[in-house]
Amino acid sequence: MYLREVSSTGLFENNGFGSDAFQQRLSRWNHERLAVAKPSAHWEADIDEDHAMRRLEARFIEAGRAEVADQAAAVPADGRGFVAWFESLKHEGPGQNDPLFPWLAEEASFADMRWFLLQEVAGEAGFDDLVALTQVKMPTRAKLELARNYWDEMGHGGEPGMHGPMLDQLARALDLKPTIEGTVAPSLALGNTLVAFATTRRYAYHAIGALGAVELTAPWRAALVAAGLKRLGVGKERRYFALHATLDVKHSEAWNTEVIQPLVEADPDCARFIAEGALMRLACGARCFEAYRQKLWTPMAAVG
Ligand SMILES: [Fe+2]
Ligand SMILES: [Fe+2]
Repeated sequence: MYLREVSSTGLFENNGFGSDAFQQRLSRWNHERLAVAKPSAHWEADIDEDHAMRRLEARFIEAGRAEVADQAAAVPADGRGFVAWFESLKHEGPGQNDPLFPWLAEEASFADMRWFLLQEVAGEAGFDDLVALTQVKMPTRAKLELARNYWDEMGHGGEPGMHGPMLDQLARALDLKPTIEGTVAPSLALGNTLVAFATTRRYAYHAIGALGAVELTAPWRAALVAAGLKRLGVGKERRYFALHATLDVKHSEAWNTEVIQPLVEADPDCARFIAEGALMRLACGARCFEAYRQKLWTPMAAVG
């Protein structure tokens, strides 16, 4: 039901936000603005560029919000009721149980799997940085859980356990070289949406919902990708997916009880914004899965 709703042409497509050109432009700007940089002589021009891009980014996000606003406004606004609704997204949310994943586990060729992972790696915005950006000025209980989650991302202070480098290791093992131009627009849109949420304080609750939705829905996908990698003979480098198949079950429980429930109890009005963030993130995922299936399941489609 959700899958059909989000993939039909809506505001998102009609405004050109789903196009390659738009998402590539946003993606390039995100890479530049988040990179560690030094003072430069053209800082005033950079501010003008940022201003123009932030306006485009906000229009893109507001179009996404408009698509889910009615549904989000109808969710329960009491802490427990909201968490129950949020957890129902695991089975009923956009993109859940997408047939792409059992296929990756059981049938995809090595080339198919490489192409899929290339898209996923390219759209990956870095969960650790997104959490770090989101926790700014959060109330204590939520901030503490975001800190625990971040510390897990950081491998508890040891590089071998860090999640980001674990994914890099897989990318190296499979010789994946992600480029913005070689990535489908929905995958770029997913990363661009998460970055917009995490870097814009008026979307702080959206970030909470979107990141919580990642924790909630990652395990089944990660388990099936790990199974596919194992079938295809990928050894310890599949650890990133094997780990998230189980760890994110715990992350999700803690996120819901320590972050979402207390935030909604403190301010019931934030429930709909957390809901919007979750629904938008899952809609982005559903668009990706649809685009991946179109590419991978179309007979004779070239897979490079
Ligand atoms: Fe992680
Ligand atoms: Fe996690």
